[in-house]
Amino acid sequence: MIAIGCDHGGYELKLEIIKHLDELGVAYEDFGTHSTDSVDYPDIAVPLCEVVASGAAELGILVCGTGIGMSMCANKVKGIRAAAVSDTFSARFTRLHNDANVLCIGGRVVGAGLACQIVDEFLGNDFEGGRHQRRVDKIMAIEDR
Ligand code: RB5
Repeated sequence: MIAIGCDHGGYELKLEIIKHLDELGVAYEDFGTHSTDSVDYPDIAVPLCEVVASGAAELGILVCGTGIGMSMCANKVKGIRAAAVSDTFSARFTRLHNDANVLCIGGRVVGAGLACQIVDEFLGNDFEGGRHQRRVDKIMAIEDR
């Protein structure tokens, strides 16, 4: 199961991504928000990330205006490695090399077509491990300082 959420700045793009997930047959849980009424993105990001960190959701997708606020919140949650991504190369390699578990996208930055390709790369690639495991372990060790 994929967890997906947005604030008002990402609402329209989230709907496009959800349509894409439906076409792919990918199961998801929608953590809101459910309209373009203004909300605070931390209120969406934190509950979603806690579900990803618990293992109940495999991966998360967060959409706000830029993707940046969501990524800042997400990376404060223990166990989360979030990446704000605007291109397919980064989407692919943040899975392969960083084992990112939350994808953040800017609804005011990328169009729906590119966003869906970004989602495809993110969902379609797995962590390579090897030398990257040591580096990811070092990222996670920062949480225990
Ligand atoms: C909301 O206006 C906007 O600040 C938010 O969607 C996001 O871009 C923050 O990083």
